[in-house]
Amino acid sequence: MKQFNFHVKPIGLLDMLHFKKLVPNRAEKLAEGANEQVTSVYKVNRMSEFMHPATQMLTIDEIIAHDDDTKTFILTGQYIAPFRAGQYLSVYLTIGESVITRPYSISSSPQWTKEGKYAVTVKRASDGFASDWILSNWKVGIQVTTSGPEGNFYYEPLRDAGHVIGVAGGSGITPFLSMAYAIRDGLEDFNLTLLYGSCAESDILYKLELAEIEKNCDKVKIIHVLSEEKTSCYEYGFITSELIKKYGGDHPYSIFLCGPPAMYNFVDKEIEKLKLESKYVRHELFTSPASPAGLDGYEGDVQKQYVLTVKRFGEQLSVPMKASETVLVALERAGIAAPSRCRGGECGWCRARLDKGETFTPSHLDGRRMADKTTGHIHPCCAYPLSDLTIDICPE
Ligand code: FES
Repeated sequence: MKQFNFHVKPIGLLDMLHFKKLVPNRAEKLAEGANEQVTSVYKVNRMSEFMHPATQMLTIDEIIAHDDDTKTFILTGQYIAPFRAGQYLSVYLTIGESVITRPYSISSSPQWTKEGKYAVTVKRASDGFASDWILSNWKVGIQVTTSGPEGNFYYEPLRDAGHVIGVAGGSGITPFLSMAYAIRDGLEDFNLTLLYGSCAESDILYKLELAEIEKNCDKVKIIHVLSEEKTSCYEYGFITSELIKKYGGDHPYSIFLCGPPAMYNFVDKEIEKLKLESKYVRHELFTSPASPAGLDGYEGDVQKQYVLTVKRFGEQLSVPMKASETVLVALERAGIAAPSRCRGGECGWCRARLDKGETFTPSHLDGRRMADKTTGHIHPCCAYPLSDLTIDICPE
């Protein structure tokens, strides 16, 4: 067997003795520190809470009425979270017995957050339970609770082309207004060509603001498209593939869409004709339709009524639920404060475990992870009941 000869000099011997004591010394130190309070507030935690707050208390500072059905609310707060142009705030509302949320795109420049301000624009919708309530009840000085800025509808240079064609309809202009401000203010760097569809000239939201940005910033170009009024100043008709090609120029460009479902249905078919890679086409959230009737794959009966049994923190209660509404709406109508943000299947905040029963989720809203699908989790914001259900809204 090979023999090793170590020659240890006096200094080395001291090192070895020191090393021998290293482990017992450490154990002693750990035992001493065992009773000390472990700090839980690191700088990075504080920064993360500031950037992504769960809630923000804001005050309505100013209200700008565009017409009887549309108002912009300027919301202020002492410390408000920064955002990327195109993101939204989810607003928390208590209306009668119902506790609900609604997402609204931020329409102001990201620059405004330095002054503690956001702007959101609310337009009355035909079935707009929340928008009607906000338009009638939000007054200057009232405090409102919102989420932090949320959503993925913003420009990302690693993914998107340097030229973005924004396709907007009605109040879907709001995230694009914020993007245009961000470009003007030097906070975003891309070219934005905005095709903005309205019925008539009088329906155009933020006409002066958009014109002002276009005048001062050569990276922003605005084209108004009117569907019900023919004038020499504007394009007439709908936003077609021809119109996109006319103003888009040579590919590559990314197309961002934000507007009502009817606009998505029409423009998506037009975009198909352009044969773009899917990464070049992005939609702002689709929120769940008021009824699943007529959706691809839906085989339920919207006239039926079911019972929803809800488990939360070891408690259990049962509430009525219509087949025509999402599970989240049934929870909210019963006054159960269920978590939610986007209401379109994307964010995962409403995730719940389905213990019993069957639901239908429209494929275009199904943002669940594969693991959640296989372990029986649902997103109540876009799940419609097909039977009585038992769900746990605070699963592990
Ligand atoms: S609220 Fe976002 S996924 Fe349901």
